[in-house]
Amino acid sequence: MDRLLVTGGTPLDGTVEIAGAKNSALKLMAAVVLADGRSTVRNVPRIQDCFTMVEVLEHLGVGCAWAGDALVLETTDVRPAETPYDLVSRMRASILVLGPLLARFGNARVAMPGGCNIGSRAIDLHIRGLEKMGARFSSEHGFLVGETTGLRGAVVNLDFPSVGATENVLMAAVAARGNTVIENAAREPELVDLADFLVEMGARIDGVGTPTIEIQGVEGFGPVDHTVIPDRVEAGTYAIAVCSAGGRLVLSGARADHMDLVLSKLADAGADVVATDAGVVISMGSRPRCVDLVTLPYPGFPTDLQPQMMALLASAEGTSIVTENVFEGRFMFVDELNRMGADIRTEGHHAVIRGVERLSAAPVRALDIRAGAAMVIAALTADGVTEIEDMYHVDRGYQDMEAKLAALGAVVRRERERSPALS
Ligand code: EPZ
Repeated sequence: MDRLLVTGGTPLDGTVEIAGAKNSALKLMAAVVLADGRSTVRNVPRIQDCFTMVEVLEHLGVGCAWAGDALVLETTDVRPAETPYDLVSRMRASILVLGPLLARFGNARVAMPGGCNIGSRAIDLHIRGLEKMGARFSSEHGFLVGETTGLRGAVVNLDFPSVGATENVLMAAVAARGNTVIENAAREPELVDLADFLVEMGARIDGVGTPTIEIQGVEGFGPVDHTVIPDRVEAGTYAIAVCSAGGRLVLSGARADHMDLVLSKLADAGADVVATDAGVVISMGSRPRCVDLVTLPYPGFPTDLQPQMMALLASAEGTSIVTENVFEGRFMFVDELNRMGADIRTEGHHAVIRGVERLSAAPVRALDIRAGAAMVIAALTADGVTEIEDMYHVDRGYQDMEAKLAALGAVVRRERERSPALS
């Protein structure tokens, strides 16, 4: 388990290249199961979750080859093999092969995801949506087994605009017999990227990016060559980092139109934000001011940037209130921040953050991808050297984080776990 040592107190300055969006790339990789032939997905982040999805695809017989940041995926020998618990427990997004496998082969066997560090994360909406389209599910020895004699179009009304459920139903519906309507669908930019990818493969989809998606089922999907959208969560993380540490960053490649609310909250906190065609320039010359925020499905404030914002607000001037509406367990990292001198009290899904003058370094843990990023942000401003354990969580979602931070002037060093044979 690698740890990161961060010496706080240095402002950030320079240009950071924003990688492709993890939460888009993973879904495009799952979607190739529908197509016959060789597809190329470009701008895929070289992060642990994408490596895990490569393993999932290889289990299914997909040939996967990296060429720089492009992934070449050959689906000629794809088959509905089971997706084992080892992979699903490492990354829940593995269950996104469910829809494409049912659509292509009429059966799928995917290990049930267990608990998760940010909440219980049910998959009932995925299952109910696919059942509406004619799939039947059973549970066997920890596996979810799905079968169908042929998916057919249906009206699927989601109780909540779940990103994953919308994606699984969408990937099944494109190949179903007849028309499907997804009501109360998720609207995240990554979902729009997936729909664009499916349309390039031959799908017929209308209304993506709105709460009602209409899909006309078709037969026969061809290979595509597609570039993943930039990662708005990675861009947001660096934007929040510079607001916390002070300085000026160019977020090269970031799309301001995917980050409206995040950038406006950072402006409220005192940042100077300029959006250009090439990215976003953000600078902060003073102590941040308190802001209140509420997480909601897109276009609301993203839950994936809530922990990083809490780290920023921990040393802001004044008291902020943050409300988490998406994941019930997403305040668990607060105890780690409080160990660094933050004054945060949580009550249900609300957090009251009384900004302190300065955080102080302490040994802390990364509890999940975004909570880990929050600890890095807190450490950049804290007094002393913070040791962040369990950096593998951060590596799941951020490409070369410490190299990028070091290039911006941060004082960071990774200590690699020594192999047991050497210790
Ligand atoms: C996606 O997760 C992202 N993951 C998450 O990013 C992100 O936090 C989340 O969307 C919300 O934006 C990927 O794209 C791989 P949901 P997903 O289904 O699809 C409940 C990160 O750090 N729900 O929209 O799993 C669920 O429990 C990650 O990059 C059900 O009750 O999110 C949660 O409370 C973490 N039943 C809420 O909906 C279901 O069947 C939102 O979940 C499905 C979801």
